[in-house]
Amino acid sequence: MSATKMQPATEMLRVENVTMRFGGLTAVDDASLIVRKGSITGLIGPNGAGKTTLFSIASGFLSPTSGRIAFEGGDITGVAPHRLAERGLGRTFQIVKPFAGLSVLENIVVGAFLRHPRRADAEAVAARVAARVGLGDRLDDPAASLTVSGRKRLEVAKALATGPKLLLLDEVLAGLNPSEVRDIIPVIRELRDTGVTILMIEHVMQAVVSLCDEVFVLAQGAIIAGGTPQQVVSDPKVIEAYLGQGAAARLNRGEAADA
Ligand SMILES: Nc1ncnc2c1ncn2[C@@H]1O[C@H](COP(=O)(O)OP(=O)(O)OP(=O)(O)O)[C@@H](O)[C@H]1O
Ligand SMILES: [Mg+2]
Repeated sequence: MSATKMQPATEMLRVENVTMRFGGLTAVDDASLIVRKGSITGLIGPNGAGKTTLFSIASGFLSPTSGRIAFEGGDITGVAPHRLAERGLGRTFQIVKPFAGLSVLENIVVGAFLRHPRRADAEAVAARVAARVGLGDRLDDPAASLTVSGRKRLEVAKALATGPKLLLLDEVLAGLNPSEVRDIIPVIRELRDTGVTILMIEHVMQAVVSLCDEVFVLAQGAIIAGGTPQQVVSDPKVIEAYLGQGAAARLNRGEAADA
């Protein structure tokens, strides 16, 4: 893949020949990809393709069967999640799990404590992060009172409060209606514009096309395509394995289409 020829200085994350087996099942199969510093990079593909498994490996929650992960040029394969958080690698979870008994602010403070041990500092950081994701007026509400869209924003805020250089977003748009998707797209773009590199797993293709600089496609554990969103949505392999003809045609005409 041409991406592997890029200069190391521009690389935030490199996934190199990663394979993950669960017993007899190969969930990730010799996958390689690169996330460039300052980019929004997409990871798309059918259900069960191995996307979340690859995120769990990149963020230290799983050790790969074989292969290597590098973050800012250093090998991080098998390094624990809390160490990676300290180094600036944050992630969200596909199944959002707010601390239901805590307020919105308290949920975000948990992440902010990583770099701000004094409570007042952590609360100030958390309040700023809440504003960035559009939860600035919900600080004292119980997390349990948030809608799906609010919980997704909170999930992003919890990770953002740890001060990541690289943020892995696992389907933060899933379950949102089209107007909620439209509202959250500029939030994600703003994160990138303020210096956070983003790798996002997403099925909402309208958002992938509008946000991503580069997209990789995983199918049955293997990377089958990589390139600009336009290249990827017109790639016959991607249409066959994931998008289908109808969605690809609409995306190529620039219409909104959810895969
Ligand atoms: N801990 C595990 N033990 C055994 N099998 C697993 C485990 N985690 C994932 N799998 C399997 O690995 C495959 C890839 O799953 P994964 O969750 O990574 O897919 P995904 O691309 O994120 O799918 P989706 O779009 O539905 O979220 C699936 O067949 C899944 O059942
Ligand atoms: Mg998943």
